[in-house]
Amino acid sequence: MTRYDETHSRWRRDPEAYWAAAAKAIDWDVPPARVFDPALGVYGRWFPGARLNTCHNAVDRHVAAGRGEQAAIIWDSPMTGRVETITYAALQQRVAKVAGALAARGVGRGDRVIVYMPMVPEAAIAMLACARLGAVHSVVFGGFAAAELAARIADAKPKAIVSASCGLEPGRVVKYKPLIDAAIALSPHKPGAVLVLQRPEHPCELTPGRDEDLLAAEAAAAPHACVSVEATDPLYILYTSGTTGAPKGILRDNGGHAVALANSMSLVYGVGAGDVFWAASDVGWVVGHSYIVYAPLLAGCTTVLFEGKPVGTPDAGTFWRVCADHGVKVLFTAPTAIRAIKKEDPAGAFLARHDLSKLEALYLAGERCDPDTVTWSERLLAKPVVDHWWQTETGWTITGNFRGLGLFPTKPGSGGKPAPGYDVVVLDEANQEVPRGQIGSLAVRLPLPPSCLPTLFNADERFRDAYLAAHPGFYSTADAGMIDADGYVWVMSRTDDIINVAGHRLSTGAMEEVLASHPDVAECAVVGVRDTLKGQVPLGLVVLKHGVTKDEATIGGELVAMVRERIGPVAAFKDARIVARLPKTRSGKILRATLRKIADGDEYVVPPTIDDPVILEEVGEVLKGAMR
Ligand code: COA
Ligand code: AMP
Repeated sequence: MTRYDETHSRWRRDPEAYWAAAAKAIDWDVPPARVFDPALGVYGRWFPGARLNTCHNAVDRHVAAGRGEQAAIIWDSPMTGRVETITYAALQQRVAKVAGALAARGVGRGDRVIVYMPMVPEAAIAMLACARLGAVHSVVFGGFAAAELAARIADAKPKAIVSASCGLEPGRVVKYKPLIDAAIALSPHKPGAVLVLQRPEHPCELTPGRDEDLLAAEAAAAPHACVSVEATDPLYILYTSGTTGAPKGILRDNGGHAVALANSMSLVYGVGAGDVFWAASDVGWVVGHSYIVYAPLLAGCTTVLFEGKPVGTPDAGTFWRVCADHGVKVLFTAPTAIRAIKKEDPAGAFLARHDLSKLEALYLAGERCDPDTVTWSERLLAKPVVDHWWQTETGWTITGNFRGLGLFPTKPGSGGKPAPGYDVVVLDEANQEVPRGQIGSLAVRLPLPPSCLPTLFNADERFRDAYLAAHPGFYSTADAGMIDADGYVWVMSRTDDIINVAGHRLSTGAMEEVLASHPDVAECAVVGVRDTLKGQVPLGLVVLKHGVTKDEATIGGELVAMVRERIGPVAAFKDARIVARLPKTRSGKILRATLRKIADGDEYVVPPTIDDPVILEEVGEVLKGAMR
C-alpha cells in the first residue's frame, strides 16, 4: 500500500477522526467539540459550535510564534517595476489598521465588503481585514465590466467597497473609478463607503461624501483586534459563472476553510512554514483566494503576489525570474500560462538563464491540461509537474497528486487521484456508478469535505437545484469524465454551458443573453471553440432578423463591443459569425451539446431527434473553420 492509499483509506474509514486531527493545526477560540453535523444546513456543517478568527490564524499567530520578521507577502510587479516585501509583523499592523478603518465606517461581523482590486498587496490586506472583523469579503475580478460588478453589488449588498484607482494591463491602464461609479449607479443597493487605493500610475478624483483615500484612512485608523466568529460563519462570497447570466455566490465558511486549506499546504504541495509558495493567478479567482492569500499564510509560508503576465512583461522568462529571485519552492499556475511561455520560448532559452535549484514542483489547474503541456514542462524543468482538478465551489483540490505523501507516477492528461476527503464517482443518468474506464458525470458523494461550499449566498434552493438535484446523495461537479483501472480521474469536459478561456471560467449563456439583446439578432448560440493557447475561446453564431442587410463585419463588431461592455474584456469574445440557421431538434431546441462537441474537436453522433442534418453540417463547418 502506498502512503496515498493508506491516507485515503484512513480518511474513508473514519472521516471525522481525519478532520479532527487536521483541525489541530488551527488556533481555536473554542475548539471543535463536534467535527460534522449532518443535520445542519443543506447537507451538514463542519465544526459547528467551534469559534476562531481566520485572520488570527493567517497572520497574528505567526507573529506571536516569533515569525514576525519573516516575509509574509512578496509583491513582484513587472507592470510597475516594483518589488516589495511585507513581513508578518508589518502585515499584522497594516491589516489591523485597515480593519479599524472599515470598522469606523460601520463594517462589522457578517457585513459584506466588495474588494475590486488589481494585483497589489492591498487586495490581500483588504481581504484579511474583513476576515479580522468577521466581515464577509466578495472579491470581484478586475477584468469584469461595470454591469457584472453591479450584479455582485446588488446581490451581496456591501456596506463598503475597497478598490484602487487603476489596474495595469500590458499597454493599457484600466481605470477602475468610472467602472465603480457606473456599477454603483446601476445597482439598486448603494454602499456607504468606497475606499480607493490611489496608485501613482493613475490617481483618480474621489467622489466627495462617498470615496476616501484608502491609505489615508488606514493611517488615521486605530488598529482593530481579531473578532471571534463561529466556524460556520461566512468568510467570503466568490461569485462564479452559473448556467444563467446571474452569477452564483459561492459561500465559504471560516472553520472548515481554515482546516482544509492549512492541511492542503503540506498534503498536496508539500510546503510548510518558511517556504516560498507562488500561485501565479489573480486574487479575483478562487486560486487567488486559496493559494495567493489564505492557504500559504495559514501555513506560515511566504506568498508571492505577482502583477504581470507569463509573457510580454517583459518576456517569456518572467516566471522563471520570479522563481529564482524569491526562492520559490512550489509554483502553481494555469496550463494556459505554460502554453503561452512554450509558444514564445519552446526550447527554454529564457529558463536556462535562471537558477531554479530551489523550485521543487509545478502544479497546474484551472482548466483541462493537454498532455503536451505537462510533458514539455516536465522535460524542461526536470521537476515533477502535477495536474490537479478543482473548482471555485471546492476551494481546494478534488483530485491531484500529493507531495506530502510522496508522489505517485503521473499520467499526463489525468487530474490524478481523489484527495483524502473526496469520494469521487462517475455516474450515469440513472444515478448508477459506471464501470471503470467509462465516461459519465463526475460527482462527489456527500458530504463534501471542509472548505467546500455549504450553500450559495442567500440561495439554498438554487444550491440544491444546481448541485444536488441531478444525483441524489451526491454533489454534481458539472464535469464529465472517467476513472481508469488504476483509480486516476480523467476530466474531459463540462456538462453545462461553462467554457474555460485561458483558465477563466465563463458562461456562454451569459454571452448569449448579450447577443440576443442586439436589435438585429433573431437567435444565437455561443460555443467554446478549441484554441491551442487559451484552451477554448467563445464564438458567437447569430441568425439575423428577416430583412437585416448589415454585413458580418459590422454586426460582429457591434456584438464584440456589447460583450466587452456588459461582461468585460476577460470574456475574450472576439468572433461572431452570421449563419443562416441554427441546428435544432424537431421540438425546436438548439443542439448546443452537439455544437460544443464539434467545437471541441470531439467525436459526436447526430442526434436522432435532429430536425435537419444539413444545418448541423453547415454550422459544423463554421465551427471547424474557427478552431485555432
Ligand atoms: N483587469 C482588466 N482587464 C483584464 C484583466 C484584469 N485583471 N485581466 C485580463 N484582462 C483583459 C486583458 O487585458 C485582455 O484584454 P484585451 O482584449 O484588451 O487584450 C482580456 O482581458 C483577455 O485577457 P487574458 O485572458 O489574460 O488574455 P491575454 O491575451 O491578455 O493573455 C495569457 C493571454 C495566456 C497570457 C493570459 O490569459 C494568462 O496569463 N493566463 C493565465 C490565466 C490565469 O492565471 N488564470 C487563473 C486561473 S488559475
Ligand atoms: P473554476 O471554478 O474557475 O476553478 O473552474 C472549475 C472548472 O475548471 C472545473 O469544473 C473544470 O471544468 C475545469 N478545471 C479546473 N481544473 C481542471 C483540471 N486540472 N483538469 C480539468 N479541468 C479542470
